[in-house]
Amino acid sequence: MENTELEQMVDTTDQWIRERTGIERRHIAAESQTTCDLAEAASRHAIDMAGISADQIDLVIVATTTADCVFPSVACLLQNRLGITNASPAFDVQAVCAGFVYALGVADSFVKAGNAKTVLVVGAETFSRILNWEDRNTCVLFGDGAGAVVLTASDEPGIHSTHLHADGRYEELLHVPEGVSRGYAEMQQQAYVQMRGSEVFRMAVSKLSEVADETLQANGIDKSELDWLVPHQANLRIIKGTARKLAMTMENVVVTVQDHGNTSAASIPLALDVAVRDGRIKAGEKLLLEGFGGGFTWGSALITF
Ligand code: UT7
Repeated sequence: MENTELEQMVDTTDQWIRERTGIERRHIAAESQTTCDLAEAASRHAIDMAGISADQIDLVIVATTTADCVFPSVACLLQNRLGITNASPAFDVQAVCAGFVYALGVADSFVKAGNAKTVLVVGAETFSRILNWEDRNTCVLFGDGAGAVVLTASDEPGIHSTHLHADGRYEELLHVPEGVSRGYAEMQQQAYVQMRGSEVFRMAVSKLSEVADETLQANGIDKSELDWLVPHQANLRIIKGTARKLAMTMENVVVTVQDHGNTSAASIPLALDVAVRDGRIKAGEKLLLEGFGGGFTWGSALITF
């Protein structure tokens, strides 16, 4: 869906969306497609690229806020779709736009504790289903998508560290205020994203910069040693602000927000996929991944790819 299509739906312009967010287009799932459909496609690509068979996977984690149904989790649906019948654990992680780094952190803990060897970590969302298409403050920002990675236990350094944070005091700045336990009737009325954009913007810039410093310090490395920043794709101005604080030029920052919009938990693995497939990110390079979302939740991962 191009920005120009949104001009027909709400009081906005292509120019406003580009200048304030960097977004040019986003993808919207077909009516018949669910989050698990997107997760399955991404997972199959990741499994192919990793050169493993699905039955080697002994943990499935899906980061999502927009599950197909209340339960089972998307991870269980996905495990079945992929034909994994080894009874290994599968569960969803809900940390909205920080969901992928949260899922990566959980997966890393399982591997480091010796409880999993081959983990499928997916970020998948159909945010279009929780948007008010009459609210220009939100509907121009988000898109649907999925990305996936396969982690394998190894003596080589892969995930050096993950750093996860939350501060629930800010729940009302970015939320879908209704849900199952607050009652289905209300859910019909308010089950869409509501955001106080400029306040979220300020917190995002400050927390992403803090967590980047925390990650560098924890690993005793200097920002000049980073090869790539692979940030959550919410707003080009936030991405540029974070890059500036890391003294990175935009050549070393993966930016896909122009083509995907904000796909919440899917945005980091989608960006990673684009830059790996086009040959920019190479084996052995150091990547800083970081995300910020509703909750607030935020986090980072330092990775040798
Ligand atoms: O992924 C989870 C984390 N989410 C984020 O990180 C998002 C963070 N926030 C943002 O990216 C930005 O705050 C937005 C892109 C949402 C908004 O940009 P902004 O520069 O903060 O704009 P604003 O909210 O301060 O609004 C500026 C003006 C307002 O008009 P007035 O009051 O100045 O007359 C808005 O009503 O822009 C207006 N506006 C729009 N105009 C045209 C808001 N949305 C639109 C729109 N088209 N779609």
